[in-house]
Amino acid sequence: MEKTAISVKASKIELNKVKGNALLIGLLKDKLTLSGELKKLDEEYGGIISSYIKNNHFKAEKGETRSVFVNRNIKNLVLVGLGEEEKYNLDVLLNAIADASKKFRDNGTENFSLCLDSFKNKFKEEDVVEKIVLSALIGLYKFTEFKTKDNGKIRQIKQITIITNSNKNFDNEVKYASVVANAVNKTRDLVNMPPNVATPEYMADYAKELAKKSGLKCIVFDEKQIEGMKMGCFINVAKGSINKPRLVILEYYGNDKKQKPIAIVGKGITFDSGGLNLKPYPYILNMKDDKGGAVAAMHIIEACYKLKFPLNLIAIMPFCENMPSGSSFRPDDVLTAHNGMTVEIKNTDAEGRLILADALSYAAEMKPQAIIDIATLTGASLIALGYIGTPFLTTNEKLREKIKNASEKSLEKVWEFPLWQEYEENIKSDVADLKHISEESDAGVIIGATFLKNFVNEIPWAHIDIGTTVWSKADKGVLTKGATGVTARLMMEMLREWK
Ligand code: BES
Ligand code: MN
Ligand code: ZN
Repeated sequence: MEKTAISVKASKIELNKVKGNALLIGLLKDKLTLSGELKKLDEEYGGIISSYIKNNHFKAEKGETRSVFVNRNIKNLVLVGLGEEEKYNLDVLLNAIADASKKFRDNGTENFSLCLDSFKNKFKEEDVVEKIVLSALIGLYKFTEFKTKDNGKIRQIKQITIITNSNKNFDNEVKYASVVANAVNKTRDLVNMPPNVATPEYMADYAKELAKKSGLKCIVFDEKQIEGMKMGCFINVAKGSINKPRLVILEYYGNDKKQKPIAIVGKGITFDSGGLNLKPYPYILNMKDDKGGAVAAMHIIEACYKLKFPLNLIAIMPFCENMPSGSSFRPDDVLTAHNGMTVEIKNTDAEGRLILADALSYAAEMKPQAIIDIATLTGASLIALGYIGTPFLTTNEKLREKIKNASEKSLEKVWEFPLWQEYEENIKSDVADLKHISEESDAGVIIGATFLKNFVNEIPWAHIDIGTTVWSKADKGVLTKGATGVTARLMMEMLREWK
């Protein structure tokens, strides 16, 4: 089902002349005076905003909204509280706009405008426009694919207008934000897709279709070929399921083919039951989200193509299902990875690092300038940073700076964890080159990464563990319950400025 697109534009109009259902005005708690255009607007509407402020009907607390029915050019003036000036930042903006957009949608409003100046504060107009578009488009996301009843009643905003008084045209910002929001939302759609539908084969067909519609190159390897490529870890994880694995490669050339590509590797477990180390209820729930890294990689490369970023990218996505059966791999098995290293299996539920071992060594063979993997690797990421941020680890100073920078710009919070040598002791095996987990249960995020480091062959590498942040329990701000599309905003910000 193709969703109706929400149209967003920036227009230069005098506030007084704005028409439509609602005009959003942001106000700071400790700056509750109207000046300039807002003052004129207030006068035009008979001082109604200032009377609300004077009578304490609106205090501009963070999260507070007050709708004032004026029923003229504009039906409602909607005052949005932004809290204290000192604490105001683009995160506050993002959540305020997303929450307001959701309220409008749920009230059946089809269009609204917002006054750019009232949200700008000390920030650059261009950045604010970009964040407004992103927050509305991401905030308004809903997964409706499998709702068959009352389909006609699903409400959606049709038009959002950002009112400016500057002569700049914000086409580039609107375009960037729309493409990125689309990448986030398509990632959410596919991660939310149930595992009986979104099998490895389905994922491969989806990638082929995506490539056909764009200028991307797509290669799909099936089970036999994966075996032929000596990906012993990947093939063994896949063995327990009747849904056969696929290795999907997408390539984008936005630069001279001689320029080394950046490799993005994504974990694509379409359902993680734990295998023979079966996950008990309720831990087995939501394990369709275990493909979140691969799905993000797919839409990141598509978005880079749409924005014509001047770089070469290659996305490597191993897709399979981790299931228990008579043909499953087992604890005590010793598997041989694509790079020839042997791995002793201790727990079939630590399957992600196994399929990544093969995918990373395959990526390393292409001698890319950097490898970044995105993976729902550990439950331990919850202990590390809770639901707020995503742990990352890296072997390279430049990548570290790029990721931190991108995090600040994209507002997707990440935090680095160390790769100290001491951890390597924990994954020494009695029988093979390595074991894939530590039998102590500490530092889960770091141990996962310490294992993966063996497969990247000295190429600058970063690992992003989205085990927790792939999914949201809350419906708040830009988050909607379910898949989050995490890393799409981060990675796009990083690739946008890649040098
Ligand atoms: N896909 C899971 C990680 C995960 C668990 C993400 C829960 C989100 C919520 C991964 O394959 C896994 O099962 N990891 C194990 C590793 C352990 C056996 C060393 C984990 O984190 O419990
Ligand atoms: Mn697992
Ligand atoms: Zn998993």
